[in-house]
Amino acid sequence: MTGGLRKLHVKSYGCQMNVYDSHRMADLLARAGYAEADAEDADLIILNTCHIREKAAEKVYSELGRVRKLKDAAAHEGRSLTVAVAGCVAQAEGEEIVRRAPLVDLVVGPQSYHRLPDLLAQAAGGAKVVATEFPAEDKFDHLAPPSHAAIRGRGVTAFVTVQEGCDKFCTFCVVPYTRGAEVSRPVAKIVAEAHHLAAAGVREITLIGQNVNAYHGAGPAGPATLGDLLHAVAAVPGVRRLRYTTSHPRDMDEGLIAAHRDLAPLMPQLHLPVQSGSDRILAAMNRRHTGADYLRVVARLRAVRPDIAFTSDFIVGFPGETEADFRDTLRMVEEVGYAGAYSFKYSPRPGTPAAERNDQVDEAVKVERLARLQAAIDRHQHAFNRACAGKSLEVLFEKPGRLPGQIVGRSPYLQPVQVMAPSSLIGEIATVGITGVGSNSLFGALPSAREREPAPAATGA
Ligand code: 5AD
Ligand code: SF4
Repeated sequence: MTGGLRKLHVKSYGCQMNVYDSHRMADLLARAGYAEADAEDADLIILNTCHIREKAAEKVYSELGRVRKLKDAAAHEGRSLTVAVAGCVAQAEGEEIVRRAPLVDLVVGPQSYHRLPDLLAQAAGGAKVVATEFPAEDKFDHLAPPSHAAIRGRGVTAFVTVQEGCDKFCTFCVVPYTRGAEVSRPVAKIVAEAHHLAAAGVREITLIGQNVNAYHGAGPAGPATLGDLLHAVAAVPGVRRLRYTTSHPRDMDEGLIAAHRDLAPLMPQLHLPVQSGSDRILAAMNRRHTGADYLRVVARLRAVRPDIAFTSDFIVGFPGETEADFRDTLRMVEEVGYAGAYSFKYSPRPGTPAAERNDQVDEAVKVERLARLQAAIDRHQHAFNRACAGKSLEVLFEKPGRLPGQIVGRSPYLQPVQVMAPSSLIGEIATVGITGVGSNSLFGALPSAREREPAPAATGA
């Protein structure tokens, strides 16, 4: 090692929690002398993996094949390249990863990231290091906040983890095994993080957790709910927009629903996975609610926030799913009229109850149902987007657009909106007239100067 900065490359797969963790790992290692770089130049590569579905884990092994070439090339140049696998595949597979991919030096589960500098020192001694324990502590607790420059490099929107893990044990899901039991961060820590982000220019914060609305962190007067937490974060100067994800329908309590009525920064868009529209399948999934329960939650939210839009996750081909069950899922799509949704073929995850069932659905049936479901979802998504044409939407501008002179931002519904406007508006929210609807984004125009309202005063430091 030649003194000076060492180079780090983190590649993130899967959910927003992994994106957040990847940033925190980079922040932590910045203090240990690592600067972020491309994979080709790196001295340390971390693959932050996802285990939620099969393909994700397979992608990691094929990515490791590519990393092997980089490691060989580095060795040729007389450099050493350290390879770490983090995230849920690391947690689930542990030692198996170093057996299957001997180029890996370090396997580190999501609860052990705060130990990375130590673990890397051990790996530098030549040992294969596997760290997959489950301490129930806030893993980034001791970490000083990232620099304003690092935050700005990541844009005007940011994620903040508020809870991690899940106690729900849906029968298809590995999360309770890979992320462990639910742990919530205290309100004061989250609010302090929000203050720091806002002071560095962040305008939109998404509170994230595997089961975010089960949040129950310590508050100023006893345990706080997610509704309480949203009130506290909404009061942080500079925070103009708030979101949270991912929620479970059973944990949409009154206070949280009321927050959608009372908090202007809380965006009228909610990701509320239903997984299936069939009560029989919902019971077999251990979701512990029916289709009608879910529709009641949707109706209560619409009653307090008529402009709210919903997105969801669906699984097709869960063991035992019949054509009639699947039609109930299609009916759910029609009844809710989703603004968008992710849909997946059921993938048996080793160690989960549903994987043991002997009534697995044929792959061909899964493929066919997925195509039908996606067609229905696409139809609703396009209808939702088309209905935006001619409306005025508030857009938070995030970065330069595709064309010169264009900037791109997000609507309250997370749709990208391309607008010809000066780059000085990046970080600002402006009312945009929607003039066109493309396949993946909307097009809009600022009102002419005469119609334009005074720009909102910049808040925060
Ligand atoms: N097979 C298919 N999809 C799954 N998901 C979680 N586990 C599985 C599985 N075993 C989906 C669910 C969840 C989303 C993040 O991934 O829809 O909401
Ligand atoms: Fe997995 Fe979500 Fe069910 Fe928890 S609530 S077990 S994270 S699908």
